[in-house]
Amino acid sequence: MEKVLITGGAGFIGSHFARRLLRCDDVAQVTVLDALTYAGSVENLGEAMLSPRLSFVPGNILDAPLVERLTRKHTAIVHFAAESHVDRSFYDTGNFLTTNVLGTYTLLEAARKARIDRFVHVSTDEVYGPLMIGQATETDPVRPSVPYAASKAASDLVALSYFQTFDLPVCVTRSSNNYGPRQHPEKIVPLFITRLLKGHELTLHGHGQHIRNWLHVEDHCHGIELVLRDGTPGEIYNIGGGTDLTSKELTGILLRMFDAGWERVRYIPDRASNDLRYAMDWSKTAALGYRPGRDLKAGLTETVDWYRNNPDRWAPLLRTTPEAPKPFHHPM
Ligand SMILES: NC(=O)c1ccc[n+]([C@@H]2O[C@H](COP(=O)([O-])OP(=O)(O)OC[C@H]3O[C@@H](n4cnc5c(N)ncnc54)[C@H](O)[C@@H]3O)[C@@H](O)[C@H]2O)c1
Repeated sequence: MEKVLITGGAGFIGSHFARRLLRCDDVAQVTVLDALTYAGSVENLGEAMLSPRLSFVPGNILDAPLVERLTRKHTAIVHFAAESHVDRSFYDTGNFLTTNVLGTYTLLEAARKARIDRFVHVSTDEVYGPLMIGQATETDPVRPSVPYAASKAASDLVALSYFQTFDLPVCVTRSSNNYGPRQHPEKIVPLFITRLLKGHELTLHGHGQHIRNWLHVEDHCHGIELVLRDGTPGEIYNIGGGTDLTSKELTGILLRMFDAGWERVRYIPDRASNDLRYAMDWSKTAALGYRPGRDLKAGLTETVDWYRNNPDRWAPLLRTTPEAPKPFHHPM
């Protein structure tokens, strides 16, 4: 736990994690490597940018020489950088495969050459695909439905193969849906909050029947920190234990927080491959000391307050139009 390289640390979860590590006395140095795509901003790191223990490096995880140079100076990597929005993966699939699979491979290669002490690859419950009943355990097969989840599943498998083949001390974490301050407003919780703040309508897919497990971002980061410190190399750790809600139930909670009624909601046809339910057993991570501690209503209230108080941070992002993928010449 001396020198930690965080990829994607200017994004939503990575920036919470970087701030968290800077509160740990045994972490000497945190370096954030981030390409600052539409989803990343140094503002997410806030006052952490002033810390002498934080270095920010603008750069792409596909840039092998840069990644190798950085990796040699660190003892651990926590890998968040990814294309993360499911809807975008339908029309920008190549970018998801390039960033999420080839980018992860580029990091793993650098980590192998540098003989890094620990590599935590951050992944998602979506790789398990939909479950009608029961909960996914870490030994279940992956059955991703959408290109985003397929790209994450592929990167998980490549990461685990580096443990099997090269003895690289890789752990994979798989978390349920996160919410909290500073999430990009394309994701459902901030999308609905910002629309409610602006007096606009909300649109719900299908009948609002899709079930997701909502986990506060700080609970997720706690789980990742435990895996970073005490996870067994070669193992997968599910990080769940938030609150299960249908999208209609989530909408109802947010409407009540704004004293708004259901006339603000319009139902639209369901999107392709919208998995009905995700659910995970997280007892393996609990054995490391993990317990999700944030109450959903308190967490959502804190989140709404952040968006209410920081319109300058999210209003410009609402105007972000889908970008053409930026070509990156991979040197391999
Ligand atoms: N948001 C969730 O609910 C959730 C749940 C489970 C797992 N995850 C995983 O957690 C990780 C972080 O998710 P998030 O919601 O914070 O995503 P995010 O989209 O908010 O942030 C991603 C960050 O990665 C950076 N990035 C993208 N491509 C890059 C590249 N080629 N090189 C360097 N940096 C690059 C972006 O600039 C951004 O700062 C992802 O791997 C995602 O799959 C997210």
